[in-house]
Amino acid sequence: MEKHIAVIKGDGIGPEIIDQAQKVLTRIAEQYGHTFSFEEVLAGGCAIDACGTCLPDKTLKTCLNSDSVLLGAVGGPKWDHLPGSERPEKALLGLRKALGLYANIRPAVLFPQLADASPLKPSITANGIDFVVVRELTGGVYFGAHQTTSENGEAVASDLMIYSEHEIERIAHVAFQTARKRRHHVTSVDKANVLDTSRLWRKVVERVAEQYPDVTLSHMYVDNAAMQICKNPAQFDVILTENMFGDILSDEASMITGTIGTIGSSSLGSGTRGMYEPIHGSAPDIAGQDKANPIGTILSAAMMLRFSFDMPSEADAIERAVSAVLDEGFRTGDMMDAHTVLISCSEMGDRIAAAIQ
Ligand code: NAD
Ligand code: IPM
Ligand code: MN
Repeated sequence: MEKHIAVIKGDGIGPEIIDQAQKVLTRIAEQYGHTFSFEEVLAGGCAIDACGTCLPDKTLKTCLNSDSVLLGAVGGPKWDHLPGSERPEKALLGLRKALGLYANIRPAVLFPQLADASPLKPSITANGIDFVVVRELTGGVYFGAHQTTSENGEAVASDLMIYSEHEIERIAHVAFQTARKRRHHVTSVDKANVLDTSRLWRKVVERVAEQYPDVTLSHMYVDNAAMQICKNPAQFDVILTENMFGDILSDEASMITGTIGTIGSSSLGSGTRGMYEPIHGSAPDIAGQDKANPIGTILSAAMMLRFSFDMPSEADAIERAVSAVLDEGFRTGDMMDAHTVLISCSEMGDRIAAAIQ
């Protein structure tokens, strides 16, 4: 098969981790007889520096014409002084909206090899961690009106959290369908004791649930969910939640699996084109040192093969290769424990690519 992939390396560790995912995809293409063409385009801080805007038209056009987008990370201290509408992160939001990617899937799975890297006690990790955060991605407070004004001589800022029924309905379907392929349980996370958006969320999710009698639904407040993820992560199968809660809970969920560096994500809309990126950011503190963990990006590439290109065997092959390299004891710094061997980002990419059979 021939596939055209738009590649956005972005800022910080972005270029380092994307290089490793490209190595792995190139190896898959060789082994399975596919042609993957990569078209590199700019977004984020590097695009601001080169073109004066975080999301140049050419980038958007290339992404819209691609079969899928592979993205590293954007942002960094160099651009933190810019107003909200001009920041590198705005490119991400613009891409998600323009490509209609309302469903963000973020798996939290504990590789048994990384159990010692988890900050949770062995008595908790022994029960396993295997859940998926289904995060609404194009609505909520991220996309409501943002405003800073002046009242009585002091600055006042507001961000509007807004959801309509159809936005909730379509993401709820994604969660229930995801649960059907797993352990048939959805936990919808909200703040319905305080927020109108959450009360609407609950009502719509309950209505959608009627179409999935084989899936059980429970509701949980987001503050309790943050606590339960640490206390008893094995209780979760699919967590369905709105944009900002999903952002926060997915970072927490990643850490209990050992490190944020191994978690990939897919962002999907109504078609097959998706955007695939690790859930972490540009990690400015370790950028340019060949230290970053590329596994989250490599597993995002595997998700691209599975969800957008209908290549499940190829996706399985990548996941097996990651597991094999972890079995051999190789780790980047973020997932080290006493019995493992420290390697660089690029060596991790080389080893995973070589382990693909
Ligand atoms: P971050 O995820 O970049 O880093 C948080 C911590 O995790 C750092 O100590 C970092 O070194 C570590 N870390 C992250 N990814 C790692 C990896 N692959 N391997 C090893 N360690 C890793 O979060 P932050 O510091 O809050 O944000 C930095 C910048 O990234 C900000 O500009 C932020 O807006 C941006 N950001 C971008 C994305 C994205 O592009 N999708 C996501 C989150 C944050
Ligand atoms: C993520 C990031 C983004 C988000 C930021 C950088 C806009 O944190 O992808 O998780 O909040 O969605
Ligand atoms: Mn985030």
